[in-house]
Amino acid sequence: MPIVFHEKSKTFHLYNQEVSYIIKILKNNQLGQLYYGKAIKDRENFDHLLEMYHRPMAVCSFENDSTFSLEHIKQEYPVYGSGDMRQMAIDIIQENGSRILNFTYHSHLIFNQKPKLENLPATYSEEENEVTTLSITLVDQVINTKIVLNYTIYENMPVITRNAYIENNGQQKLVLNRAMSLSLDLPDSDYIMLELTGAWSRERYVKERKLEHGIQSIYSLRGCSSSNFNPFIALKRKNADEFSGEVLGFSFVYSGNFLAQVEVDTYNCSRVMMGIHPHCFKWNLDPNMHFQTPEVVMVYSDQGLNKMSQTYHYLYQNRLVRGKYRNLARPILVNNWEGTYFDFDEEKILAIAKTASELGIELFVLDDGWFGKRNNDHTGLGDWYVNLDKLPNGIANLSKKINDLGLKFGLWFEPEMVNKDSDLYRSHPEWVLATPKRNMSHGRNQYVLDFSNPDVIEYIYQMMVKMIEQGNVSYIKWDMNRCMSEVYSSSHQSYQQGQVMHEYILGVYSLYEHLTKRFPDILFESCASGGARFDPGMLYYAPQTWTSDDTDAIERLKIQYGTSLVYPVSSMGAHVSAIPNHQVFRNTSLETRANVAYFGTFGYELDLNKLNDDEKKKIVEQITFMKEYREIIQFGTFYRLLSPFDGNGNETAWMVVSKDQKTAIVGYYRILLEVNQGYRRLRLQGLNPDYCYHVSRLESDHFGDELMNVGLINSDHSCGENHEVYDGTNGDYYSKIYLLKAK
Ligand code: DGJ
Repeated sequence: MPIVFHEKSKTFHLYNQEVSYIIKILKNNQLGQLYYGKAIKDRENFDHLLEMYHRPMAVCSFENDSTFSLEHIKQEYPVYGSGDMRQMAIDIIQENGSRILNFTYHSHLIFNQKPKLENLPATYSEEENEVTTLSITLVDQVINTKIVLNYTIYENMPVITRNAYIENNGQQKLVLNRAMSLSLDLPDSDYIMLELTGAWSRERYVKERKLEHGIQSIYSLRGCSSSNFNPFIALKRKNADEFSGEVLGFSFVYSGNFLAQVEVDTYNCSRVMMGIHPHCFKWNLDPNMHFQTPEVVMVYSDQGLNKMSQTYHYLYQNRLVRGKYRNLARPILVNNWEGTYFDFDEEKILAIAKTASELGIELFVLDDGWFGKRNNDHTGLGDWYVNLDKLPNGIANLSKKINDLGLKFGLWFEPEMVNKDSDLYRSHPEWVLATPKRNMSHGRNQYVLDFSNPDVIEYIYQMMVKMIEQGNVSYIKWDMNRCMSEVYSSSHQSYQQGQVMHEYILGVYSLYEHLTKRFPDILFESCASGGARFDPGMLYYAPQTWTSDDTDAIERLKIQYGTSLVYPVSSMGAHVSAIPNHQVFRNTSLETRANVAYFGTFGYELDLNKLNDDEKKKIVEQITFMKEYREIIQFGTFYRLLSPFDGNGNETAWMVVSKDQKTAIVGYYRILLEVNQGYRRLRLQGLNPDYCYHVSRLESDHFGDELMNVGLINSDHSCGENHEVYDGTNGDYYSKIYLLKAK
């Protein structure tokens, strides 16, 4: 049983082979946090970890006891104002105006299941005894309100998930101003905080900073999880790197506003918090009402960042993603966006589809522009019926012709948005989020539909269903191209406005839930101007996400590398696009573009009819390669080898290893060709030391131990005088794939 309760010492110990988490019911009946880290042996009593000494000048809870000060005690779900002056996990305003709270232990349950979260995405369990859950109920007697803190530990993974459920069983009208999903007090601050930060087209760059006194935080108040900060942080020890050292990962299963922060007090204790951002959040907790927080997934690693990432990858692939495509290799697609933008008609689309089918592509995705009067980004959003000027024979006909070419048909939607120039807006201007008497800011000329209003969702649902059925759609790209502003819902009373941003996200989830239930065979890819909603919440509904609008292979090295900190290869949309690249005008070889895109859900995003025969021949080879190895690439064990964020960032390398360790694929990428460099060896990971691998390109055989300890000889003509002739691939923006096969 990985969760025990020691009655005498009132201590809970959650543990498995790898991780321990210890909670104690304190003298004041609140919950104390004793330990989170590498697994330690269980014992009846861990009270010595409490460390309570006389504290001069501290605010203390008990008369004649100057040791019990909440300012100094590590807690599980702290409240403000009774000694603890730091940031609080929960804030409730009561009818008398007070915010003082006292949640004390009431009862607990330990059971072998992971309950679903009401209307929210979350990791799940499938097999018996795979998880154990501890639900601790705390009650504030004065307001007769309870909090249930839920902890689930996975039996065979260093994973503990957390969420909180709050219920008002009293008579007062309460207002919940803040409800974190996780609060965790750590006894020291010797950590580096790692975050994934960026902007449109440069999402999820790895950034690190040393923890300092005060608050360090990342957040989103954009209405989506955002490309600026991903809902994830890791705390790593100073000596931790990719393959060694202690790392604590915190990932938030949510797609809207969030806060992830670490507060270091002046005694060097660190308080980690993660949850819905309290700004713009105000939940009316009337009598008998409740609130469920989203989930935080904590991963512990004592083998560096790679192990943390592999744990997230495995968990999210197998116990977050759902549905038919969960463990299925993903279809190779062509998407017409960068190939045509809005400028297409049926003939052009069919011509691309025909070539796609000849090259071995499996899915054609018709992107933005097929509906309403959508000839540019000023019009049409909201009108989810076919644009007959472009596609006079309708979607059904187009889709059938594409199916007849042997391709599946996919369609783009942006369900949450509307243009003013649309039939939908003309008939329902009140369905837009807009504050009375205030300016209504646009983003990409579009406005946000009020997804906190179920009528809006129902309307969009019906329109989508019609198109999906007509078009025999196998794949949906669900886009979302702006952040929210002037948020206010005309379907809500003034006192309910603080609920709108969260209810919006619940609305998005409910539409996803309805569509994925009704169309279980459709593969969904989420997207938000590229990767502005690349988060675990989305993965619960859509197994893959469009990683970034930046399709340049060199830019993608950083983006895909950073994304891989949390998200598996099977979730990262990655396409080969045209050169000069549309975002940065860079010219890279077709090889390098594919060598980067292989490490994702592979596809092409260009007008295939603009390619010459030689390029088409290469694409056939690429597709053949990907078809043979995509299962391993997308679902094998992924290792980062060289970071584009280290040093001058000139080299990146990563690899995947098949589950049976018999096959491995290594991607090596070098941005600039440097002259007369030292010889290079790339030390590999995850191989079987006793297997002898044939290494392509080297065309030689090596044991796994040699490849991991000595390294793969990766030198080339840059080491010394270059007698080669430039052939378009061997200069700058160079890359190579090594295929390793055990003999
Ligand atoms: C943003 C997406 O990220 C692109 O791939 C494309 O679908 C455009 N939107 C279409 O408007």
